[in-house]
Order: sequence, then structure tokens, then C-alpha cells
Amino acid sequence: MNPQPSAAAPDGAPPLESLRVEPLLTSAFDTDPAGVYAHLRRTYGPVAPVGLMGVPVWLVLDYREVLEVLRKESLWRRDIRYWRARAEGRLPQDWPLLAGYEVRQTMFMDDEEHLAARQTYHSALGPFQDARTPQGWELRSAVVSYADELVAMLAAESGTAGFMDLAAQYTRPLLLMVTTRLFGCPVELGDEMVIDMWRMLDGGPDAGPATGRALAAMTRLAAHRRAVPGDDLTSYLLLADPSLSDEQLGRELFMNAVYLNDITGNMVCNTLLEVLRGNATVRRSLSAGLIGETVNRAALANAPVANMCFRFAAHDVRLGNFWIRAGDAVSPSAAAAHQDLMAIGSHLVDSTVSTRAHLGWGAGPHQCPSAARELAGAVVATAVGRIFDHFTKVELTLPADQLPWRSGPVVRGLRLLPVRYELGAGHPVAGQGAASPPRAAANGAPRADASQASRHHARGLLAALRHLMWGTRKGG
Ligand code: HEM
Repeated sequence: MNPQPSAAAPDGAPPLESLRVEPLLTSAFDTDPAGVYAHLRRTYGPVAPVGLMGVPVWLVLDYREVLEVLRKESLWRRDIRYWRARAEGRLPQDWPLLAGYEVRQTMFMDDEEHLAARQTYHSALGPFQDARTPQGWELRSAVVSYADELVAMLAAESGTAGFMDLAAQYTRPLLLMVTTRLFGCPVELGDEMVIDMWRMLDGGPDAGPATGRALAAMTRLAAHRRAVPGDDLTSYLLLADPSLSDEQLGRELFMNAVYLNDITGNMVCNTLLEVLRGNATVRRSLSAGLIGETVNRAALANAPVANMCFRFAAHDVRLGNFWIRAGDAVSPSAAAAHQDLMAIGSHLVDSTVSTRAHLGWGAGPHQCPSAARELAGAVVATAVGRIFDHFTKVELTLPADQLPWRSGPVVRGLRLLPVRYELGAGHPVAGQGAASPPRAAANGAPRADASQASRHHARGLLAALRHLMWGTRKGG
């Protein structure tokens, strides 16, 4: 790789701006991103110049180079003030991705400021990290109740056998309910936030105003919880760092809402797909209770954060076959790196690649905080597990290679997950809560009161969110 940290790019090395870049977000990328990554790798090597909606950036494709960029924060900076094209006013004013990058939050901080923000997350997420605390147990119990209420509603409205979209009718409302609960968020804020977040992530023409509205909603939530603290992440973030202004906290909540709703939701759908597409090893690992292994396989096959947000070179550096100039934007691609990793694995005699080597959680100083990973892992495992607990039959109604994907600059997620289903005899019934009780608390005793409260809360939330569930399918 030969980073040559202090050297300036030699005169003959072409700057990014001078290269003919291939647009990344094409219809070919929508249908076959792996084919596009393979083509870019063949043409340019481990790092390729690409166009993102008219702005040239470097896409890092190979596993080794992606890890190098993720790990070496002294060279690969997150603060967007390092971005030369932005500093020189060369980004189009209406560039759809700019609104998201201008939201200054933990992901776009470096050094001490970043370390302090990570510490705040560590403290605030701690109570929800595992099921040993009352908050952690109650959140997990709530996820079970929400999942069961959604299944019960399906049975009441569509019968015990039929067709459903596991993305629109199960995963998205479930994650919205979890977000509303974890954030201590009044329902009307949830509606507004989720619709606008999808608009922003899709990078459409209304991404700017949508980002502004979602941020405003999160800032109102921050102010609300400052005035009325609760047993929720918003209040714990304020407790961990009382110096956070409503605007700062609103920006952090906004970023977390993206992870908890969209990214975690995609992980649920991708894991369901891994199981449904009939891979025998995956089905066996699920029936053996190894959902974590299934999640790892799904992350390796389809990382929900396919291409991570930009890093900016602190100084000129050689990466792959190019000289990256100080201030150039570089996007490390987990999806392309996984493709490379699996190719490396297939060349190793008597060896396979560990599914845990995936970069679905990122790597290095900005990787997903461990408490967030545990929390997200529990939500995904429960959401997936509850489906296979209640349904005796779930089959894809489209061949797996014809499923429609949403392939944005960052996220890759299923638009739909249409299935034919049959519910088992003991499925949940609307208003009667879980068919089987949620997992016991750490001491082995189910906490009946908390479960009852969760079910009550689930029913209230679901009633309020029904119109959202049917009204936003096209947004995904
Ligand atoms: C399955 C679900 C999730 C996945 C796949 C995931 C993945 C990731 C990835 C890839 C990064 C690093 C991005 C980068 O370096 O550019 C990240 C960072 C982060 N994630 Fe997660 N995440 C998930 C769920 C969550 C949840 C539920 C939360 C919070 C409630 C969360 C909070 C964060 C935070 C705060 C960061 C920024 C860390 C930093 O910049 O230092 N994530 N996540």
C-alpha cells in the first residue's frame, strides 16, 4: 500500500478533479452493485475515482485499504472542514448529500472532541446495552411486545394465511416503535422524523428541507426531555453531558435515529432474507439459536451501511494506484471490501473467512459503539426470531434476485420483502399480548408488570402509527 505519509503528490500524478469519473449511482448499481464494484476494481485497482451525483470522490474497494482508512484517524479525518472542494466552494449549492454532511455530530468529529462524544454515548447507552438493567430488560420486553402486536394485527386484518410485505408491514413500524420508545419521543414527532429521514437518505431533490424538518423535530424532542426528563436515551444523553445544547443534542438524536430506524431496519430485512433465500447453513444456525451468526452472514452478504461516509486526507498520500490529495473525499466501501474478503477467502487452502470479519459495524475509532451494537443486535435478533417463532410458513413470493433494493450512496436496503405466510396455532391475538412470554429477566423471573406495561404501550403506539405504516411504503 505504501502510504508515504509526509510526501507531496508528484507532479505527474493526476488530481481527482482532472480524472474522468464514472457515476456510481446508475441503474446497473441499483440492480447489481457487486458487478459495479468488480468492474471498478478491474479498471482502477483497490481505489477508484467515482462521481456521486456530480461530485468526484474516491471509493475505496479493497478490504486492506478500507481497514487502513477506517483505522488511521490521524491521516483520514472526519471533520468536513478538511474537505477541499467544500472549502473552495466547488460543491453545487443544491447537491442532495450536502445537507446530511452539514449536520455536525459525533460522526464528523475528530480527536478529543470525538473521544468526549464517544464517552457520552458510552454512559447514555449503558443502561440499555443488555438485559441486566431494568431499562435494558424493559426495552427488550417492549421489542417483543411490539413484534407480537404487529403479528396480531396482521392476523386480525389479513387472516392467519396470506401475503404480506415483511419490510413495510413489520420491520419499519417495529423500528419506529422502538425508536419512539428509546428516545422518549411523543408519537407525532416520530411520524415526522421517519418520513423526512427516508427523504434525506434517498438523496432526493427535497433532501435539504427534509433534513431541516427532521433536525427541528429532534431539537424539539431534546428541549422536551430537558424540561421533562424520562427513562430514555435522550434524557440519559443530557445526564451524561449537561453542556449539550438542544441543537447539539438534536443533531446527535438525528444521527441515532438514522441508525436505529433505517440501518437497523435494513439489518432485520437483510437477515430475514438470508434465512428465507433457503441457505441450509443459515436455516440450521437459526434453528440452533445462533441468530448472531445469521446476522453476521447477512452483514457480510449485504452490509446495510454499504459505503461509509467520507473521510478527508490530512495530507497527500498514495492509496491503491493513485495519489490522494490533501482534502480529497474518500468513501470506504464495506460492501466492496466484503466482496474482496470473500475472494481472498476462496483462495486460501483449507480456510474460510470468519463471518465476524465483516465491516458492517465499521472499524477503528469511529466504529459503532459497543453498547449500540449490543442494543441493535438484540433488536435484530428479536425481530427476526419472533417471525420464525410465530409463522409456520414464510416463503418469498419473488425470486431472491428479483427483489427491489434501494441503493443510495450510503445505504443498501430492501424496498419490499414480499412473502406468503401461514401463522401457527398459538399466534398472538390483538389486544391479548404475547402468545408466549418474553424472555425472562437476568434473575430468571419474568417481570410481569413491565411486560404488561410494554403491551399496553405497544397497542397505543400501534394505533397511533397505523396511518404511517400504510402511507409511507413508497418512501422506503
Ligand atoms: C444493525 C444496526 C447498526 C449497524 C449495522 C450500525 C453500523 C454502524 C457503522 C458502520 C458505523 C460507522 C460508520 C463510519 O465509520 O462511517 C456506526 C457508527 C455509529 N453508530 Fe451504529 N449501527 C447500527 C445501529 C446503531 C444504533 C441502534 C445506534 C444508537 C442507538 C448506533 C449508534 C452509532 C453511533 C453513535 C455511531 C458513530 C460513532 C462514531 O463516529 O464515533 N448504531 N454504526
